[in-house]
Amino acid sequence: MNKTILTGLRVNSVLTLGNYLGALLPMVRLANKYSKDYTVNIFVPDLHSIISSIDGTLKENTIRSIKYFLSAGLELNDNVHIYRQSRVPAHTELTWILNCVATMGEMSRMIQYKEKSEGKESANVGIFDYPVLMASDILLYGASYVPVGEDQFQHIELTRNLAIRFNHRFGDTFVVPEETKKQVEFMGLDNGIRIRDLVNPDKKMSKSTPGENSKIMLSDLPEKAAKKIMSATTDSFEDIEFDLTTRPGISNLLQIEALINDRPLGEIIREWQGKSRYGDLKKQVASSVQKLLEDFQTNYANTSDTDVEEILPIGEKYANEIANAKLAEVYQKVGLA
Ligand code: TRP
Repeated sequence: MNKTILTGLRVNSVLTLGNYLGALLPMVRLANKYSKDYTVNIFVPDLHSIISSIDGTLKENTIRSIKYFLSAGLELNDNVHIYRQSRVPAHTELTWILNCVATMGEMSRMIQYKEKSEGKESANVGIFDYPVLMASDILLYGASYVPVGEDQFQHIELTRNLAIRFNHRFGDTFVVPEETKKQVEFMGLDNGIRIRDLVNPDKKMSKSTPGENSKIMLSDLPEKAAKKIMSATTDSFEDIEFDLTTRPGISNLLQIEALINDRPLGEIIREWQGKSRYGDLKKQVASSVQKLLEDFQTNYANTSDTDVEEILPIGEKYANEIANAKLAEVYQKVGLA
């Protein structure tokens, strides 16, 4: 049987170039590269989205994020499956069972929970419990590889621990996902990618930063985005050098150039290192960004809600079959069936 690569991308609104280059595009490339030999599951964790707010935009955002995958060039074939978490009830059913396997201690140690709840009594229980839902998302499909950003590594570790504990108590049931170090290797990266703010490159690019020039949104006019690159903060050294700590601005541009063109960072560094014309590098990156946005926006405009509505039932039928079979096995093991 083929191994499974699985990932879910939370999309609550419009993405930045950083989200796109750091998460979405690498996933799409991974899927396109491996879908001959692996099963690839890509899903929208819509049940996760409501831990932050429940409002009227969820449905629209869900459709939009599937369009993003398609516009980023995801190639669909028999091994690639796209679905919504909420349409596969087994995710929530397994969550309950794993809730009774997970401990208060380990759950309370989740950094994201601590950050998001800020210790407030008013924090919702979903924020606390969502790593268990995430474990269910993964374990139902026997996924070995789960490409995610660094902020999710702790949840992958939790998933591994729950799988190991369950298997130990009830007999071999779940595939234990690979350790995060192996996941990173599989993604072909040295470490997680973090695209920087264009004005203050010490910080991560974020849609909530107020300054227009700090961030590039996927919906920006391509020429406007190119201008933002041209005005990006670099440094006052004499020549180009890659060092994210001492020269975050120029290093960020080198990284963006490598990611957009799907070329190894080392190669891009070798090309530019020692050169003194920062402007030339900026022009090159600006043109790469402009082209990326033009292509993406054209694809996006050509993808309709109907296209999305047509593919979802296929993915959801498949997902329910796989997930229900695993859930039935779990019910059996714990004495619910
Ligand atoms: N928690 C992830 C995030 O916030 C999204 C997610 C939910 C996910 N379930 C998952 C990622 C399962 C990978 C596998 O980004």
